[in-house]
Amino acid sequence: MNFFPIDFLDKLHDGYQKAVSIKGRELLLIQEKGSHYILENICPHAGYPMVNGKIIEGQIRCPMHGYLFSLVNGACTFVTEGPCRGLHTYQPVIRDNQIGLML
Ligand code: FES
Repeated sequence: MNFFPIDFLDKLHDGYQKAVSIKGRELLLIQEKGSHYILENICPHAGYPMVNGKIIEGQIRCPMHGYLFSLVNGACTFVTEGPCRGLHTYQPVIRDNQIGLML
């Protein structure tokens, strides 16, 4: 496993979202209420990018059809057009002044 940085820690702030592609995975780094989350950036419902989805009470809303997913564990908590699996989540890792993940 190697460390893949996504951004410098001091660039993050509440409301921050950044989409990146690392080792063929589409990922989304989020800061919300001082906590950091890394989620799959592709909505499992119909493949729309999750980036810029509104954050609502610890969940991210897919910009396309409004499905909600937990920031903590990726679970799908609200659907509009039928069931959906959750988003994959990844453990954020901080090294020096960088935040990223191990892959
Ligand atoms: S593509 Fe995300 S809710 Fe449909």
